[in-house]
Amino acid sequence: MKKSVALPLFFAACQSAPMPNAEHHHHHDHGGMPHRFENAEEWAKQFDDPSRDAWQKPDEVVTLLRLQPGMVVADIGAGTGYFEGRLSKAVGDTGRVWAMDVEADMVRYLGERAQKEGWKNLEAKQVAPDDPGLAPNSVDRILIVDTWHHLGDRDAYAQKLAAALKPGGEIHVVDFNKDSPRGPPAEMKLAPEELQATLQKAGLQSELASETLPDQYVVIAKKAG
Ligand SMILES: C[S@@+](CC[C@H](N)C(=O)[O-])C[C@H]1O[C@@H](n2cnc3c(N)ncnc32)[C@H](O)[C@@H]1O
Repeated sequence: MKKSVALPLFFAACQSAPMPNAEHHHHHDHGGMPHRFENAEEWAKQFDDPSRDAWQKPDEVVTLLRLQPGMVVADIGAGTGYFEGRLSKAVGDTGRVWAMDVEADMVRYLGERAQKEGWKNLEAKQVAPDDPGLAPNSVDRILIVDTWHHLGDRDAYAQKLAAALKPGGEIHVVDFNKDSPRGPPAEMKLAPEELQATLQKAGLQSELASETLPDQYVVIAKKAG
């Protein structure tokens, strides 16, 4: 991301960042959008840009999760921790936040940020691209923001997420509307119906949340209680 580039498109870098390894074609074979997110400090300028709040509406996204003190919440593709302060506060001292990312540098940054900000209930963990790294029946909520379109075998991934939920637990996936000027290129954007079908195949009940995000939808999938 060059500093001089104006950013009318959020995550414009998703379209233009160099791919330093040869995973590109391999990942495209099964539908995911590969993308490396190295150098967390650079990404933080974009992910944690205060102007993002106006359209990302993080308070609204977190309110939809209906977190309670003591809950366990996982953020998959946590990035530089844009949501983590809110999640950490909502589940409190007796709760736990798992901040998962595939990129070692994001995990390093998340850990340092947690220390600095005093998010004592948060643990950052590096995960494999095809596995959320969560124990079965262990989490109350899973949040996945602007990350689903990076996943490869989404059916298999959804099965693993479903297994990780406690009974009554929920997955909330936030991603870009097809016609949004923000986000990945249009052909990588995913209709919410497609996402819902994937989550239903994994045995979850899904619904489209009612919200006021201008560029995105929120799909909620619930495990029977
Ligand atoms: C566009 S960023 C979004 C970060 C954060 N959710 C936010 O809203 O600011 C996508 C993040 O997902 C991570 N990621 C991509 N594929 C992943 C996967 N299969 N599992 C976990 N994290 C992944 C990337 O490294 C990156 O940090």
